[in-house]
Amino acid sequence: MPMNSTIPDPSGSSTYNDTIVRQFAIAAVIWGVVSMLVGVFIAAQMAWPALNFDLPWLSFGRLRPLHTNAAVFAFGGCALFATSYWVVQRTCQVRIISDKLAALHFWLWQAVILAAAITLPLGITRGKEYAELEWPISIAIAVAWVAYAVVFFGTIGIRKVRHIYVANWFYGAFIIAVALLHITNAMSMPATLWKSYSVYAGVQDAMVQWWYGHNAVGFFLTAGFLGIVYYFIPKQAERPVYSYRLSIVHFWALIFTYMWAGPHHLHYTALPDWTQSLGMVFSLILLAPSWGGMINGVMTLSGAWHKLRDDPIIRFMIVALSFYGIATFEGPMMSIKTVNALSHYTDWGIGHVHGGTLGWVGFISMGALYYLVPRLYGQSRMHSLRAIELHFWISTIGIVLYIASMWIAGVMQGLMWRSINTDGSLTYTFVESVKASMPFYIIRFVGGLMYLSGMAVMAWNVAMTMRAGRAQDARIPAVLAHV
Ligand code: HEM
Ligand code: HEM
Repeated sequence: MPMNSTIPDPSGSSTYNDTIVRQFAIAAVIWGVVSMLVGVFIAAQMAWPALNFDLPWLSFGRLRPLHTNAAVFAFGGCALFATSYWVVQRTCQVRIISDKLAALHFWLWQAVILAAAITLPLGITRGKEYAELEWPISIAIAVAWVAYAVVFFGTIGIRKVRHIYVANWFYGAFIIAVALLHITNAMSMPATLWKSYSVYAGVQDAMVQWWYGHNAVGFFLTAGFLGIVYYFIPKQAERPVYSYRLSIVHFWALIFTYMWAGPHHLHYTALPDWTQSLGMVFSLILLAPSWGGMINGVMTLSGAWHKLRDDPIIRFMIVALSFYGIATFEGPMMSIKTVNALSHYTDWGIGHVHGGTLGWVGFISMGALYYLVPRLYGQSRMHSLRAIELHFWISTIGIVLYIASMWIAGVMQGLMWRSINTDGSLTYTFVESVKASMPFYIIRFVGGLMYLSGMAVMAWNVAMTMRAGRAQDARIPAVLAHV
């Protein structure tokens, strides 16, 4: 029979460890500004190539992986770590199992980012997309990840709440899958301290790489952020998840299906044809669980739609889900071989990527950070709600300019490249397609600049909120014991 007695906190401490949440949250904001700045710079280089300045370490080829690594692993990663440490403690009602391991996770991750920022401009790379960092850094990533996994699953192990809330399932899948992907794809033979060679060869290497690459999208850029959706949207909307049952079905369907879809990155290559078709079929199936998750998130707002008008934070979150819906409709379409014959190698892909990253990953992270920051500094709300409004609109217009220009440029490039005269010769030279793309690169640059400006407004707002408040760790609520 339930009694109103409290049981003492077995961790011996009555507060959550919010220091680690604060550290990762602030790092996410800083790396957000830095990664987007590099993004805007390489976008400018596409429009005005003279900006390469004939300096190897400032060239597009070296700064591009710096942008992708900083945006995905530094900005996105830190947002995921901050939110997961917050969520796992609240939903398990315990302090994390080890403060020291969490601190190791934080500092080692920052060291990895710093190492990336030095080695990539120097041209030190493994040459595998999203897995460029050379073997000593790859090992550091694995160590940081193990520390993270031990803290996360260890905390779940000592939880005081019997049920494991669904957000933790998504974070957990993200942690396990990324460990598996990183370790398998990073297997290499070191030749020197800063040069190694993949242990896989030829088409096997390509297949392992895109199994990794696609699941980096599925688990790094999707599953973890769905963890954010399932905790922060109900919290901010003050409504329960629309369908808890759907969240479970969606979870298993999503993680099972993602693993098979990688070959859609290798259509019309030396990869066996049946493997490509299998990847295409699984990509098409992936539409269903993806939209199941999106609908579940959006419908969580049912009965409280007015919040979309009144609350700029919920607007970030719901618009993020809309972009998730767009990217996960577009992706399956692009995986159809005949469509991919047009879209592959073109800027359509870049439009798809940034619909997902700016719209989905960026906006859901920003929404969650706006939720977290005042709470981490003992404030009832962010310093300026009008600044959040400004951030929302300037960034939304920025995304639309970015993705619309890339869609148009991409389809145009694809059509120009396949256009053939009656005598069988090509209608356009490649250079003509580059010249025709230039206006769109300028529009993309303007869109990117707007998105970056929104992020800068956020950084200011966060700094002001921190200044007004005081870093404080929340107390763990007393738990009702069944005695
Ligand atoms: C101000 C915002 C941003 C701008 C202006 C920007 C710009 C760019 C540019 C110019 C490229 C290279 C395109 C090419 O090679 O033709 C690129 C690639 C990429 N960016 Fe961004 N970016 C921004 C934000 C982000 C964010 C926030 C993320 C992730 C969270 C991201 C992830 C990526 C990825 C994954 C690629 C590689 C795409 C591929 O290989 O297909 N970007 N970005
Ligand atoms: C149902 C879900 C999705 C499917 C089936 C899918 C499918 C695809 C396809 C077919 C490509 C083009 C491959 C090529 O021609 O090389 C692609 C590229 C890409 N997608 Fe998606 N996509 C999905 C969702 C997303 C989301 C939500 C994001 C981001 C958050 C994303 C990020 C990317 C990235 C970064 C690339 C570029 C990979 C590269 O470097 O070449 N995708 N996706």
